[in-house]
Amino acid sequence: MFQPSKSSQLVLSAPGEFRARFHGEPSVFRAPGRVNLIGEHTDYNDGLVMPVALGFATYVAVGQRNDRALHVFSTNFEELQVRSLDDLKPKSRKHWSDYVYGVAAALADRGIKLRGANLVIAGGVPVGAGLSSSAALEVATAFALLHNSQSSLERKEIALACQRAENNYVGMRCGIMDQFISCFGRSGHALLIDCRSLERRWLPLHDEFQIAICNTGVKHEHASGEYNKRRADCDRAVAYLKPRLPGISALRDVTLQQLEEFGQGMEPVAFRRARHVITENDRVQQACETLAGGEMERFGELMFASHRSLRDDFEVSCDELNVMVSLAEGIEGVVGSRMTGGGFGGCTVNLVQRELVAAFQSEIAVRYKSVTGIEPQIYICDAADGAGQVTEEEVRRE
Ligand code: GLA
Repeated sequence: MFQPSKSSQLVLSAPGEFRARFHGEPSVFRAPGRVNLIGEHTDYNDGLVMPVALGFATYVAVGQRNDRALHVFSTNFEELQVRSLDDLKPKSRKHWSDYVYGVAAALADRGIKLRGANLVIAGGVPVGAGLSSSAALEVATAFALLHNSQSSLERKEIALACQRAENNYVGMRCGIMDQFISCFGRSGHALLIDCRSLERRWLPLHDEFQIAICNTGVKHEHASGEYNKRRADCDRAVAYLKPRLPGISALRDVTLQQLEEFGQGMEPVAFRRARHVITENDRVQQACETLAGGEMERFGELMFASHRSLRDDFEVSCDELNVMVSLAEGIEGVVGSRMTGGGFGGCTVNLVQRELVAAFQSEIAVRYKSVTGIEPQIYICDAADGAGQVTEEEVRRE
């Protein structure tokens, strides 16, 4: 079984590949993927989210060049891409390097004087699983490029630049959650993010529970447009409500009562999308209180309710995710379960009593396979730290 915390040997292949390909000793940066405990599709509605950074991470080894080129090698794709820093105009080609050049362009737009660099990327976050492999790649690239150019930016600014890269370069209108948690994750903690003010609060997680992530094996395809369509649905709900509720600027500002009172004439799809966002923000707030008070059963109920709302109102779940959640519900030690991330495939996040997590891992795998015929991957995770430089000692050990 793949354990994210043990993945470092795998992804630290970045410095070895760098030495072989470009010569010299690189500096190495890592940025983690994430799993979201609760607060889905709320970030781009100025709402609340509660993600956790994972042990899965992307590593970028970097060294200077004397010209103005970015030579980027991916160990996952075994492919080298070359582009000049003077030619970073967006050309989304649905290629892994869009993320790298997009970040370079976003940093340059922010006034950072970038220098030419050799980069080797080793991605350790499963792709298409809803665990933010894109944000991990963006953030690790930003750290590497900033270091290479002897520049620095606050983490918040790095996260925002990476989000812009994905919005403008890749064409995915993502919110800020993934890049933010990749920058600000803290071991043993979930992070409450207010996606309007960008205020954040680290919430300690209880030792007696562990996070189990169940990968349905169904790959999601955000950029295919469903994600952007959901954003447009939310925008239409706001446009409908605004003349009736002056002063609102996002679904964050609307209560369920107001939606029921003023949203009756709204097209049903937009109404349901709005109802999900409004109730999900409420659930995140309640989840914070229950976490602080140690009422984990209640926390779990909120996770199940979040799943139902994503399935029925926001319509971003799929059969395999629904099967995985129903199966988890029937297994001893499971406190809560829901789909996590953008949806349309990917993973569920489960909160499980620590002493029962091993039994959960084997049981859900067997049951899921017997229903769907797909062998799922189950990752047992602890909350990890956000992005940073890998120490020289760790690099030397490679
Ligand atoms: C994707 C996006 C995030 C967020 C989630 C859904 O992961 O990148 O910004 O919108 O979907 O919560």
